[in-house]
Amino acid sequence: MYNETATQAQLLNKHIMNETLTFRSQIQSLQTRVDAALQAYLQPRVAPQLWEAMAYSVLNGGKRIRPLLVLLTCEALGQDAQPALPAACALELIHSYSLIHDDLPALDNDDWRRGQPSNHARFGEALAILSGDALSSYAFEILSLPGLLPAETQLQVLHEIALASGPSGMCAGQVLDMFGEIAESEKLQAIAQIYQLKTGRLIRAAVRCGAWIGGANESQMVALTRYAEALGLAFQIQDDILDLTGSLDTLGKTPQKDLQQAKRTWPWAVGLDAASQQARQYLAEALEALQTAQIKETQTLEAMALYLVERQA
Ligand code: IPE
Ligand code: IPE
Ligand code: MG
Ligand code: MG
Ligand code: MG
Repeated sequence: MYNETATQAQLLNKHIMNETLTFRSQIQSLQTRVDAALQAYLQPRVAPQLWEAMAYSVLNGGKRIRPLLVLLTCEALGQDAQPALPAACALELIHSYSLIHDDLPALDNDDWRRGQPSNHARFGEALAILSGDALSSYAFEILSLPGLLPAETQLQVLHEIALASGPSGMCAGQVLDMFGEIAESEKLQAIAQIYQLKTGRLIRAAVRCGAWIGGANESQMVALTRYAEALGLAFQIQDDILDLTGSLDTLGKTPQKDLQQAKRTWPWAVGLDAASQQARQYLAEALEALQTAQIKETQTLEAMALYLVERQA
């Protein structure tokens, strides 16, 4: 049986040794490709103030985690990442829209995002709402372009992203985050469900889209999905830890927002140390899932998982 502690320790050691140079330069070069493609997609058309507001919240230095996961998964399967670039960008557009709406006064009411005034603080609420709407629809315009991918793959990718972002995914999670009742006896299950929906589904869609485009077989798809689901939980726990421990300077968004708004988070439920342990437990699960994926090149996906849990921003 899988020995969690030993496997985790081995994998972590392996990464601490070879993470830095190769991984960082691979990530940077993919980020540059994603940024250039996003820039091209966001050239102004009719209603230029709408495009200005859309570009403002996309071309502003996000970590690009979701597009990176699409591209890295495709590459891990031995395929060229280029055909996956539009889907990678579409996911970043949806993620950016979710952040614009998340920051609105009616939701988390945060005036800072990625180190600059949030969209509504800069352009007003009307344009923030509309630029979020537009980014969401624009993502599907990009994804549905005839001939973008082989037809069946394109439909799978479209369906994956629609499910992940709408009422079965991110939007549902945001509603539970805002209004969900949490019973004391099952608070961790309830928090996990919020995380899975509001954050996990887009991360899962990123990996699965990379897998669809990279031609994963059924068992690879199952393993990669397990990897992504564990990663989504670890990622949101770390976001909630950083909300408590980070600063406006390091995070680029207002710290301690969750406390101010009485959000139900993992650190709120069990304390910082136990939350951090749980994040590493989910990291171990993600790494273990990759071991079962029968994929030759899992190193970058492993390094990505480690980075997402160890990040300080
Ligand atoms: C922030 O996501 C919102 C969450 C889902 C926790 P990221 O931490 O990926 O934000 P950016 O894109 O790098 O700004
Ligand atoms: C947001 O979670 C998840 C989204 C769907 C945008 P948070 O509200 O914790 O994200 P941040 O901390 O504002 O980035
Ligand atoms: Mg929120
Ligand atoms: Mg927020
Ligand atoms: Mg947060």
